[in-house]
Amino acid sequence: MNITDQHHLKGNLLESKQITADTLGEGKLIEGDVLSILGKIDNDVVNVGMTSPPYNKQEKHKGWLVKNVVYDVYKDALPEPEYQQNQVNVLNEIYRVTAPGGSFFYNHKIRWDRGNMYHPMDWLRKTEWTVKQEIIWDRMIAGNIRGWRFWQVEERIYWLYKPIGKKLIGKELRSCDAKLTSIWRGVPEDGRKNRHPAPFPLWLPARVIISILESETQGIVLDPYIGSGTTAVAAKLLGHKYIGIDRSEAYIEMTCERLNNAPGEMSKIREEQGLHHVKGTFKERKTKGKHVGKYRDTDNESKIAQPTLFEQ
Ligand SMILES: C[S@@+](CC[C@H](N)C(=O)[O-])C[C@H]1O[C@@H](n2cnc3c(N)ncnc32)[C@H](O)[C@@H]1O
Repeated sequence: MNITDQHHLKGNLLESKQITADTLGEGKLIEGDVLSILGKIDNDVVNVGMTSPPYNKQEKHKGWLVKNVVYDVYKDALPEPEYQQNQVNVLNEIYRVTAPGGSFFYNHKIRWDRGNMYHPMDWLRKTEWTVKQEIIWDRMIAGNIRGWRFWQVEERIYWLYKPIGKKLIGKELRSCDAKLTSIWRGVPEDGRKNRHPAPFPLWLPARVIISILESETQGIVLDPYIGSGTTAVAAKLLGHKYIGIDRSEAYIEMTCERLNNAPGEMSKIREEQGLHHVKGTFKERKTKGKHVGKYRDTDNESKIAQPTLFEQ
């Protein structure tokens, strides 16, 4: 199959490792099961990725989240050990297709089943990735239907790193990112604006891409559970190439439509770019004593919408 001119590909027609940096064009959206499609991508192609997999919510439970988050062609209910092993396999394939020095941001959350806690680190430590940081995504909003625990309004984002050789630490962030903390506060996407049941807000993949990739060099961005295409839209608007995978044809079509209208979402990208604004280097900031103190980023507070759920 000649894939050079095509954008939406049926994964079952592709050969092993057929997706390479040279055949990507602006980007590719590939329909099919994530593990099998990752096998169609060549080694070391991707520079940065971000994703939110299905959370194995077990549809028999009757939570607010479960009732509203129902996917098109996928029943999110595997036995937990099978789910975790599948995630290890997927993450190791993402590791293979990522270039050394590349990063992957994995969004998940702490879950409980009849009192047992499932923490994403339970399976992340079984993968080949170096876990560089755990970021708290304070969504500030979530259903609060039972009182077994304090109201869980946060999710987690794991910054995973593929080292070059044996140097696990990698390189420093650029100093323009110095005001971004390990708590990312921002409400999820407004469900009335996106027909997908669990879309990212655009600022989330935009923050990752801006922080990791140089704007002057075109990179390759992967989201292996692309859904409504938010990561691909962020990559495109920031001048990078993308690879998106989803088993739902309808979601891939949604992504194509969104990519066609992407310029209409540029203002949200500009807002995020405005948060990466620090001028001095880390060293200069340290010399001037600007690297410590109470964290207060007034720019950030004014730009991100505040929730209404906490109001009485
Ligand atoms: C949490 S959603 C991702 C939403 C996305 N971040 C966005 O901004 O719209 C997870 C997606 O994974 C897809 N999916 C679930 N299982 C899959 C599999 N085995 N292979 C490929 N895609 C899968 C679902 O169809 C769904 O669109």
